[in-house]
Amino acid sequence: MQKPTIFSKILNCPDKKNEKNSVADINGFGNNVLITGANRGLGLNMVEEIAKNYGVKRIFACCRDPDKAKDLVSLNLKYKVIHLIKLDVQNDKSIEVAAEEVKKILVNENLNVLINNAGIFEDTFGERTGGSFYFPQRDYWARHFDINVNGLAMVTAAFLPLLQQSAKAGERALLINMSSTLASISLGRIADFLKNGNVAYSMTKAAVNSYTHLVSKYLEKDGIITTCFCPGWVKTDLGTEVAELTVDQSIPPLMKTISNLKKEQNGNYMNRFDLYLFLDILSINTHFRHCDRLLTHSNIMT
Ligand SMILES: NC(=O)c1ccc[n+]([C@@H]2O[C@H](COP(=O)([O-])OP(=O)(O)OC[C@H]3O[C@@H](n4cnc5c(N)ncnc54)[C@H](OP(=O)(O)O)[C@@H]3O)[C@@H](O)[C@H]2O)c1
Repeated sequence: MQKPTIFSKILNCPDKKNEKNSVADINGFGNNVLITGANRGLGLNMVEEIAKNYGVKRIFACCRDPDKAKDLVSLNLKYKVIHLIKLDVQNDKSIEVAAEEVKKILVNENLNVLINNAGIFEDTFGERTGGSFYFPQRDYWARHFDINVNGLAMVTAAFLPLLQQSAKAGERALLINMSSTLASISLGRIADFLKNGNVAYSMTKAAVNSYTHLVSKYLEKDGIITTCFCPGWVKTDLGTEVAELTVDQSIPPLMKTISNLKKEQNGNYMNRFDLYLFLDILSINTHFRHCDRLLTHSNIMT
Protein backbone atom coordinates (compact mmCIF):
# COMPACT_ATOMS: atom_id res chain seq x y z
CA MET A 1 0.00 0.00 0.00
CA GLN A 2 1.51 3.33 -1.02
CA LYS A 3 2.10 5.98 1.63
CA PRO A 4 -0.18 8.95 0.99
CA THR A 5 1.53 12.27 0.38
CA ILE A 6 0.20 15.51 1.77
CA PHE A 7 -1.50 16.29 -1.53
CA SER A 8 -3.01 12.88 -2.05
CA LYS A 9 -4.41 13.14 1.50
CA ILE A 10 -5.84 16.60 0.96
CA LEU A 11 -7.22 15.86 -2.44
CA ASN A 12 -8.34 12.35 -1.59
CA CYS A 13 -6.67 11.23 -4.81
CA PRO A 14 -4.03 8.57 -5.48
CA ASP A 15 -0.39 9.57 -5.62
CA LYS A 16 0.25 9.04 -9.32
CA LYS A 17 3.99 8.61 -9.03
CA ASN A 18 3.78 5.36 -7.08
CA GLU A 19 0.59 4.02 -8.46
CA LYS A 20 0.66 0.50 -9.89
CA ASN A 21 -1.58 -0.63 -12.70
CA SER A 22 -4.83 -2.00 -11.36
CA VAL A 23 -7.08 -4.78 -12.65
CA ALA A 24 -9.02 -2.06 -14.45
CA ASP A 25 -6.01 -1.56 -16.77
CA ILE A 26 -6.66 -4.92 -18.37
CA ASN A 27 -9.83 -3.61 -19.91
CA GLY A 28 -11.32 -0.92 -17.73
CA PHE A 29 -14.51 -0.66 -19.77
CA GLY A 30 -16.07 -4.03 -19.00
CA ASN A 31 -18.03 -5.66 -21.81
CA ASN A 32 -20.61 -3.10 -22.83
CA VAL A 33 -20.17 0.62 -23.44
CA LEU A 34 -22.64 3.26 -24.64
CA ILE A 35 -21.63 6.60 -26.14
CA THR A 36 -23.97 9.43 -27.19
CA GLY A 37 -23.10 11.76 -30.08
CA ALA A 38 -20.99 8.99 -31.62
CA ASN A 39 -21.26 9.90 -35.31
CA ARG A 40 -18.55 12.56 -35.42
CA GLY A 41 -15.93 14.44 -33.40
CA LEU A 42 -14.86 13.10 -30.04
CA GLY A 43 -17.65 10.54 -29.79
CA LEU A 44 -16.68 8.90 -33.07
CA ASN A 45 -13.05 8.76 -31.98
CA MET A 46 -14.01 7.28 -28.61
CA VAL A 47 -15.84 4.49 -30.43
CA GLU A 48 -12.78 3.74 -32.56
CA GLU A 49 -10.30 3.91 -29.68
CA ILE A 50 -12.36 1.59 -27.48
CA ALA A 51 -13.10 -0.84 -30.33
CA LYS A 52 -9.43 -0.97 -31.28
CA ASN A 53 -7.75 -1.14 -27.89
CA TYR A 54 -10.04 -2.25 -25.09
CA GLY A 55 -11.42 -5.65 -26.07
CA VAL A 56 -15.02 -4.82 -25.27
CA LYS A 57 -17.88 -6.99 -26.45
CA ARG A 58 -20.26 -4.25 -27.58
CA ILE A 59 -20.19 -0.51 -28.15
CA PHE A 60 -23.60 1.10 -28.47
CA ALA A 61 -22.74 4.05 -30.70
CA CYS A 62 -25.70 6.41 -30.44
CA CYS A 63 -26.49 9.18 -32.87
CA ARG A 64 -29.46 11.15 -34.14
CA ASP A 65 -29.43 9.73 -37.63
CA PRO A 66 -27.60 6.42 -38.16
CA ASP A 67 -28.51 6.44 -41.89
CA LYS A 68 -26.40 9.56 -42.39
CA ALA A 69 -23.58 8.56 -40.04
CA LYS A 70 -21.14 7.57 -42.80
CA ASP A 71 -17.98 7.49 -40.67
CA LEU A 72 -19.68 5.45 -38.00
CA VAL A 73 -21.04 3.01 -40.58
CA SER A 74 -17.49 2.57 -41.94
CA LEU A 75 -16.22 1.88 -38.43
CA ASN A 76 -19.05 -0.57 -37.95
CA LEU A 77 -17.87 -2.53 -40.99
CA LYS A 78 -14.37 -2.70 -39.51
CA TYR A 79 -15.29 -3.47 -35.89
CA LYS A 80 -18.17 -5.85 -35.39
CA VAL A 81 -18.52 -4.86 -31.74
CA ILE A 82 -20.19 -1.61 -32.79
CA HIS A 83 -24.00 -1.35 -32.69
CA LEU A 84 -25.56 1.76 -34.19
CA ILE A 85 -28.42 3.07 -32.08
CA LYS A 86 -30.70 5.96 -33.01
CA LEU A 87 -30.86 8.42 -30.13
CA ASP A 88 -31.72 12.12 -30.02
CA VAL A 89 -30.99 13.47 -26.53
CA GLN A 90 -33.66 16.15 -27.00
CA ASN A 91 -36.40 13.61 -27.61
CA ASP A 92 -37.69 11.55 -24.67
CA LYS A 93 -39.39 8.97 -26.87
CA SER A 94 -36.16 8.46 -28.79
CA ILE A 95 -34.26 7.93 -25.52
CA GLU A 96 -36.87 5.43 -24.32
CA VAL A 97 -36.80 3.46 -27.59
CA ALA A 98 -33.00 3.44 -27.59
CA ALA A 99 -32.92 2.10 -24.01
CA GLU A 100 -35.35 -0.69 -25.00
CA GLU A 101 -33.24 -1.59 -28.03
CA VAL A 102 -30.06 -1.73 -25.95
CA LYS A 103 -31.80 -3.92 -23.33
CA LYS A 104 -32.92 -6.31 -26.07
CA ILE A 105 -29.42 -6.63 -27.49
CA LEU A 106 -27.91 -7.13 -24.05
CA VAL A 107 -30.44 -9.85 -23.14
CA ASN A 108 -29.18 -10.72 -19.63
CA GLU A 109 -25.97 -8.69 -19.77
CA ASN A 110 -25.40 -5.30 -18.20
CA LEU A 111 -24.18 -1.93 -19.37
CA ASN A 112 -20.78 -1.17 -17.89
CA VAL A 113 -20.05 2.35 -19.12
CA LEU A 114 -22.28 5.23 -20.17
CA ILE A 115 -20.47 8.18 -21.77
CA ASN A 116 -22.68 11.26 -22.07
CA ASN A 117 -20.79 12.92 -24.89
CA ALA A 118 -23.43 14.57 -27.12
CA GLY A 119 -23.25 18.33 -26.85
CA ILE A 120 -23.36 21.63 -28.68
CA PHE A 121 -21.44 24.91 -28.71
CA GLU A 122 -22.96 26.96 -31.49
CA ASP A 123 -21.39 29.97 -33.25
CA THR A 124 -18.06 29.85 -31.59
CA PHE A 125 -17.03 33.49 -31.22
CA GLY A 126 -18.49 36.94 -31.66
CA GLU A 127 -20.51 39.36 -29.58
CA ARG A 128 -23.79 38.49 -31.23
CA THR A 129 -23.72 34.74 -31.07
CA GLY A 130 -26.79 34.44 -28.90
CA GLY A 131 -24.80 32.80 -26.14
CA SER A 132 -23.00 36.04 -25.33
CA PHE A 133 -23.34 38.17 -22.21
CA TYR A 134 -24.46 41.35 -23.99
CA PHE A 135 -26.82 39.89 -26.59
CA PRO A 136 -28.29 36.71 -25.13
CA GLN A 137 -31.00 34.97 -27.14
CA ARG A 138 -33.47 32.94 -25.14
CA ASP A 139 -33.91 30.14 -27.69
CA TYR A 140 -30.15 29.83 -28.06
CA TRP A 141 -29.65 29.40 -24.30
CA ALA A 142 -32.62 27.03 -24.09
CA ARG A 143 -31.19 24.82 -26.87
CA HIS A 144 -27.79 24.65 -25.16
CA PHE A 145 -29.37 23.71 -21.86
CA ASP A 146 -31.75 21.22 -23.45
CA ILE A 147 -29.00 19.29 -25.21
CA ASN A 148 -26.04 19.70 -22.86
CA VAL A 149 -27.87 19.38 -19.55
CA ASN A 150 -31.48 18.17 -19.80
CA GLY A 151 -30.65 15.59 -22.46
CA LEU A 152 -27.76 14.27 -20.41
CA ALA A 153 -29.99 13.87 -17.35
CA MET A 154 -32.72 12.11 -19.35
CA VAL A 155 -30.27 9.70 -20.99
CA THR A 156 -28.65 8.93 -17.65
CA ALA A 157 -32.00 8.15 -16.03
CA ALA A 158 -32.99 5.87 -18.93
CA PHE A 159 -29.81 3.78 -18.82
CA LEU A 160 -29.17 3.92 -15.08
CA PRO A 161 -30.94 0.62 -14.25
CA LEU A 162 -28.55 -1.17 -16.63
CA LEU A 163 -25.53 0.43 -14.93
CA GLN A 164 -26.92 -0.39 -11.50
CA GLN A 165 -27.35 -4.03 -12.51
CA SER A 166 -23.76 -4.06 -13.61
CA ALA A 167 -22.50 -2.67 -10.30
CA LYS A 168 -24.72 -5.12 -8.40
CA ALA A 169 -23.15 -7.99 -10.32
CA GLY A 170 -19.72 -6.72 -9.23
CA GLU A 171 -18.86 -5.54 -12.75
CA ARG A 172 -17.36 -2.26 -13.88
CA ALA A 173 -19.97 0.53 -13.71
CA LEU A 174 -18.99 4.02 -14.86
CA LEU A 175 -21.04 7.12 -15.59
CA ILE A 176 -18.93 9.60 -17.56
CA ASN A 177 -20.09 13.12 -18.43
CA MET A 178 -18.31 15.33 -20.92
CA SER A 179 -17.61 18.72 -19.40
CA SER A 180 -15.15 21.46 -20.29
CA THR A 181 -12.60 23.69 -18.59
CA LEU A 182 -14.93 26.51 -19.66
CA ALA A 183 -17.30 25.17 -16.98
CA SER A 184 -14.95 26.09 -14.22
CA ILE A 185 -16.18 28.89 -11.99
CA SER A 186 -13.00 29.01 -9.95
CA LEU A 187 -10.58 29.02 -12.86
CA GLY A 188 -12.19 32.32 -13.88
CA ARG A 189 -11.86 31.80 -17.61
CA ILE A 190 -15.15 33.64 -17.92
CA ALA A 191 -13.55 37.03 -17.11
CA ASP A 192 -11.78 37.34 -20.46
CA PHE A 193 -14.50 35.34 -22.12
CA LEU A 194 -17.45 37.62 -21.34
CA LYS A 195 -17.22 39.93 -24.32
CA ASN A 196 -17.08 37.38 -27.09
CA GLY A 197 -17.59 34.08 -25.37
CA ASN A 198 -20.43 31.65 -25.28
CA VAL A 199 -21.52 32.18 -21.69
CA ALA A 200 -24.48 29.88 -22.21
CA TYR A 201 -22.17 26.96 -23.03
CA SER A 202 -20.03 27.56 -19.94
CA MET A 203 -23.13 27.59 -17.79
CA THR A 204 -24.41 24.33 -19.25
CA LYS A 205 -21.13 22.60 -18.52
CA ALA A 206 -21.05 24.04 -14.98
CA ALA A 207 -24.49 22.46 -14.61
CA VAL A 208 -23.07 19.17 -15.89
CA ASN A 209 -20.41 19.39 -13.17
CA SER A 210 -23.01 20.08 -10.54
CA TYR A 211 -25.10 17.15 -11.77
CA THR A 212 -22.05 14.88 -11.75
CA HIS A 213 -21.15 15.83 -8.22
CA LEU A 214 -24.69 15.48 -6.91
CA VAL A 215 -25.50 12.12 -8.50
CA SER A 216 -22.08 10.71 -7.61
CA LYS A 217 -23.10 10.90 -3.96
CA TYR A 218 -26.21 8.82 -4.61
CA LEU A 219 -24.65 6.34 -7.00
CA GLU A 220 -21.58 5.71 -4.86
CA LYS A 221 -23.60 3.38 -2.61
CA ASP A 222 -24.62 1.37 -5.69
CA GLY A 223 -20.97 0.93 -6.68
CA ILE A 224 -21.08 3.25 -9.70
CA ILE A 225 -18.20 5.67 -10.31
CA THR A 226 -19.41 9.01 -11.70
CA THR A 227 -17.00 11.61 -13.06
CA CYS A 228 -16.83 14.45 -15.57
CA PHE A 229 -13.98 15.33 -17.90
CA CYS A 230 -12.60 18.11 -20.02
CA PRO A 231 -11.11 16.47 -23.14
CA GLY A 232 -8.92 19.53 -23.87
CA TRP A 233 -9.58 22.03 -26.64
CA VAL A 234 -9.81 19.69 -29.60
CA LYS A 235 -10.09 20.12 -33.38
CA THR A 236 -13.65 18.98 -34.07
CA ASP A 237 -16.65 20.77 -35.56
CA LEU A 238 -17.32 22.07 -32.06
CA GLY A 239 -13.72 22.86 -31.13
CA THR A 240 -12.99 24.34 -34.62
CA GLU A 241 -9.79 23.90 -36.61
CA VAL A 242 -7.95 26.48 -34.49
CA ALA A 243 -8.17 24.27 -31.39
CA GLU A 244 -4.94 23.23 -29.71
CA LEU A 245 -5.23 19.47 -29.87
CA THR A 246 -5.95 16.80 -32.45
CA VAL A 247 -8.38 14.03 -31.51
CA ASP A 248 -5.36 11.72 -31.33
CA GLN A 249 -3.89 13.89 -28.58
CA SER A 250 -7.13 13.94 -26.65
CA ILE A 251 -9.00 10.66 -26.95
CA PRO A 252 -6.31 7.98 -26.25
CA PRO A 253 -5.23 9.58 -22.93
CA LEU A 254 -8.85 10.30 -22.01
CA MET A 255 -9.89 6.69 -22.64
CA LYS A 256 -6.89 5.41 -20.69
CA THR A 257 -7.80 7.64 -17.76
CA ILE A 258 -11.39 6.43 -17.87
CA SER A 259 -10.29 2.81 -18.04
CA ASN A 260 -8.20 3.35 -14.91
CA LEU A 261 -10.84 5.16 -12.85
CA LYS A 262 -11.02 4.15 -9.23
CA LYS A 263 -13.73 4.65 -6.67
CA GLU A 264 -11.62 7.28 -4.87
CA GLN A 265 -12.14 9.47 -7.95
CA ASN A 266 -15.92 9.34 -7.72
CA GLY A 267 -17.50 12.78 -8.24
CA ASN A 268 -14.36 14.40 -9.64
CA TYR A 269 -13.99 16.93 -12.44
CA MET A 270 -10.80 16.11 -14.29
CA ASN A 271 -8.82 16.70 -17.43
CA ARG A 272 -7.84 13.88 -19.78
CA PHE A 273 -4.73 13.01 -17.73
CA ASP A 274 -6.84 12.79 -14.56
CA LEU A 275 -5.50 16.04 -13.15
CA TYR A 276 -8.15 17.46 -10.91
CA LEU A 277 -10.20 20.41 -12.07
CA PHE A 278 -11.87 20.17 -8.73
CA LEU A 279 -12.08 23.77 -7.67
CA ASP A 280 -15.77 24.11 -8.30
CA ILE A 281 -16.53 21.05 -6.30
CA LEU A 282 -14.30 21.54 -3.28
CA SER A 283 -13.47 25.02 -2.16
CA ILE A 284 -10.87 25.37 0.50
CA ASN A 285 -7.82 27.53 0.00
CA THR A 286 -5.45 24.60 -0.23
CA HIS A 287 -7.19 23.44 -3.35
CA PHE A 288 -6.85 26.85 -4.94
CA ARG A 289 -3.15 26.94 -4.22
CA HIS A 290 -2.65 23.41 -5.44
CA CYS A 291 -4.58 23.98 -8.64
CA ASP A 292 -2.61 27.12 -9.41
CA ARG A 293 0.47 24.94 -9.14
CA LEU A 294 -1.01 22.38 -11.52
CA LEU A 295 -2.00 25.06 -13.97
CA THR A 296 1.48 26.52 -13.97
CA HIS A 297 3.03 23.16 -14.70
CA SER A 298 0.57 21.70 -17.12
CA ASN A 299 -1.62 22.43 -20.03
CA ILE A 300 -4.99 21.89 -18.45
CA MET A 301 -6.46 25.18 -19.60
CA THR A 302 -7.34 23.72 -22.98
N1 LIG B 1 -13.98 19.77 -28.96
C1 LIG B 1 -13.65 20.41 -27.88
O1 LIG B 1 -12.70 21.23 -27.86
C2 LIG B 1 -14.38 20.16 -26.58
C3 LIG B 1 -13.88 20.76 -25.41
C4 LIG B 1 -14.53 20.55 -24.21
C5 LIG B 1 -15.65 19.75 -24.17
N2 LIG B 1 -16.14 19.18 -25.31
C6 LIG B 1 -17.35 18.37 -25.19
O2 LIG B 1 -17.17 17.11 -25.80
C7 LIG B 1 -18.40 16.65 -26.37
C8 LIG B 1 -18.21 16.28 -27.83
O3 LIG B 1 -17.76 17.43 -28.51
P1 LIG B 1 -17.20 17.40 -30.00
O4 LIG B 1 -16.07 18.32 -30.04
O5 LIG B 1 -17.04 16.00 -30.45
O6 LIG B 1 -18.43 18.07 -30.77
P2 LIG B 1 -18.97 17.84 -32.28
O7 LIG B 1 -17.87 17.39 -33.16
O8 LIG B 1 -19.72 19.06 -32.63
O9 LIG B 1 -19.97 16.61 -32.08
C9 LIG B 1 -21.10 16.77 -31.28
C10 LIG B 1 -21.86 15.47 -31.25
O10 LIG B 1 -23.02 15.68 -30.43
C11 LIG B 1 -24.15 15.23 -31.18
N3 LIG B 1 -25.42 15.89 -30.83
C12 LIG B 1 -25.72 17.20 -30.87
N4 LIG B 1 -27.01 17.37 -30.55
C13 LIG B 1 -27.52 16.13 -30.32
C14 LIG B 1 -28.80 15.63 -29.97
N5 LIG B 1 -29.85 16.42 -29.79
N6 LIG B 1 -28.94 14.28 -29.80
C15 LIG B 1 -27.91 13.45 -29.99
N7 LIG B 1 -26.68 13.86 -30.36
C16 LIG B 1 -26.50 15.19 -30.51
C17 LIG B 1 -23.80 15.53 -32.64
O11 LIG B 1 -24.66 14.82 -33.50
P3 LIG B 1 -25.19 15.44 -34.92
O12 LIG B 1 -24.14 15.12 -35.93
O13 LIG B 1 -26.47 14.73 -35.14
O14 LIG B 1 -25.35 16.92 -34.72
C18 LIG B 1 -22.36 15.06 -32.64
O15 LIG B 1 -22.30 13.66 -32.74
C19 LIG B 1 -19.42 17.77 -26.16
O16 LIG B 1 -20.19 17.49 -25.00
C20 LIG B 1 -18.54 18.99 -25.92
O17 LIG B 1 -19.18 19.98 -25.15
C21 LIG B 1 -15.53 19.37 -26.52
